[in-house]
Amino acid sequence: CGIVGYVGDKPAEGVVIEGLRRLEYRGYDSAGIALVEAGSIVSDKRAGKLANLEKAIAESPLPQVTTGIGHTRWATHGPPTDRNAHPHLGRARRVALVHNGIIENFAELRGRLESEGVEMASDTDTEIAAHLLEEQLETGVDLTVAMQNVCRGLHGAFTLVAIDAHDPDRVVAARRNSPLVVGIGEGENFLGSDVAAFIEHTREAMELDQDQVVTITRDGVSVSGFDGTPAEGRRYHVDWDLSAAEKDGHDWFMRKEIFEQPRAVADSLLGRRGTDGLLQLDEMRLSDQDLRDVDKIIIIAAGTSFYAGMVAKYAIEHWCRIPVEVELASEFRYRDPILTSDTLVVAISQSGETADTLQAIRHAREQRSKVLSICNTNGSTIPRESDGVIYTHAGPEIGVASTKGFLTQLVACYLLALYLAQVKGTRYGDEISQVMDQLDQMPDHIQTVLDKAEQVYGLARDHVGSRSVLFLGRHAGYPVALEGALKLKEIAYLHAEGFAAGELKHGPIALVEEGLPILCVVPPRGRDQLHDKMISGIQEVRARGARTLCLAEEGDTTIVPYADVLITLPQVPVLLQPLVAVVPLQLFACELATQLGHDVDQPRNLAKSVTVE
Ligand code: G6P
Repeated sequence: CGIVGYVGDKPAEGVVIEGLRRLEYRGYDSAGIALVEAGSIVSDKRAGKLANLEKAIAESPLPQVTTGIGHTRWATHGPPTDRNAHPHLGRARRVALVHNGIIENFAELRGRLESEGVEMASDTDTEIAAHLLEEQLETGVDLTVAMQNVCRGLHGAFTLVAIDAHDPDRVVAARRNSPLVVGIGEGENFLGSDVAAFIEHTREAMELDQDQVVTITRDGVSVSGFDGTPAEGRRYHVDWDLSAAEKDGHDWFMRKEIFEQPRAVADSLLGRRGTDGLLQLDEMRLSDQDLRDVDKIIIIAAGTSFYAGMVAKYAIEHWCRIPVEVELASEFRYRDPILTSDTLVVAISQSGETADTLQAIRHAREQRSKVLSICNTNGSTIPRESDGVIYTHAGPEIGVASTKGFLTQLVACYLLALYLAQVKGTRYGDEISQVMDQLDQMPDHIQTVLDKAEQVYGLARDHVGSRSVLFLGRHAGYPVALEGALKLKEIAYLHAEGFAAGELKHGPIALVEEGLPILCVVPPRGRDQLHDKMISGIQEVRARGARTLCLAEEGDTTIVPYADVLITLPQVPVLLQPLVAVVPLQLFACELATQLGHDVDQPRNLAKSVTVE
């Protein structure tokens, strides 16, 4: 999760450890360092906090050398242990390497290396890259060329940083769809996952493009493409202070995390399609036969995760024709639910530690039901106690109000639904791959919505004085309305309610009065009547004086007469619309709370993970 590289005139150990400390805010579960000393690599790595690593180093000190790399890991492949912590060394101990991201074709590469007799020292996807680099170095090329050659054969998203024992004044890094910045000093240069890693040493930085390799030495920085063509990085001056640097220039972690969503969604989609085009969920651990036997699904979750579960119901029932119930974890156990060994219980939890959800899955397992969890935290309790798990790859979420956690849960729910459809044969393969293609386009669509942030901020500023805001949605837009209202309650402490638009006339419409702002999530136009029914609902509230703030797809002109404000969304299928529709609602809540002067990252009375029932 955090990466540091250094070559210069100071003791590298201090620079690297300090850099890792500056990156701690990114969240991590193990830490490690490697240095080059007179032709050999010296390395130490420990599970747990940085203090564990520092204690180990104090007991067995590292050499005072001036080139090194360091890493804080947030587990994706393999649990957070000493052995899986980075750096990873090649078998000749010539190369040490740290890595962020996911190497998608690692299983294939690992298979090849093992067939050639390489013994793996960890469960990670990273280690294979260390062996591949050594293989290259043995052919006589330098570390820069070795990195270019290796990266051309890797799929996925990654930042790699490596050192070579035979070339002590050089650190080489590469990036594809994963963050890496260069810090430019005098007589020293730095690498970091973000500028916080080196901001106390220099504010001169260099940004790299995708698919580039960068080599730093004491006196120079050179950049090339994976094919070796020389390239130029873009130099810039960092004028943030340290705390803003940790937030990538944003005022809040929540805002930063909202803007990370295209990346988080892309990472959560990575590596899910095999070479045969079939979906594969490698941490699934439930056999196809187990899944074929499933005759009912119960989804349990709390808070934002519960709303992801509501969307999952629409997707699973539509694509798989399996009945799905969605239940609040805190209610589930106490109503004596009907569970059999053919019931699949799906627990959704970003943290993997929510006590209500944990108790619910324990109850389900006691009744012999199978439990599959959707979780963002590798090695946490809920996935450990489940029969299978789909990990989301949002990276650590620090803001208490969930944003990228939610979007990646939606992705995992879609993947689960499609996987069940594949196993159960309820959909044809080409239909499944068509939805996968649509999902692959979602990061770009989410970015399109983020590009409209200023419009949403303006809207939020206009509503600073509002006492109450309502949210309306239908179908998959209904949970989006609920989530939009929850965000506003959580961080703006504002009265907010989400309703199913069709239910409005059965009661909530009595709340509508002159000037009441109502955010309406308009479904895409389609063959069904969803869209038109939604328009009727909007007309009803407008006729009673509500101010309608509408989210509707690009090109939907029918909404124009009924929208006081219109924010357009990319055209996507109704089931996938939550991935784009919730983004303006997150931005709206974040900006409104900021305007009201609240602590957006740590709202009053709330905790990131609630470990009491
Ligand atoms: C807490 C958080 C919410 C979160 C809920 C469920 O209440 O404040 O933001 O949605 O827990 O958390 P989980 O980690 O289980 O998804």
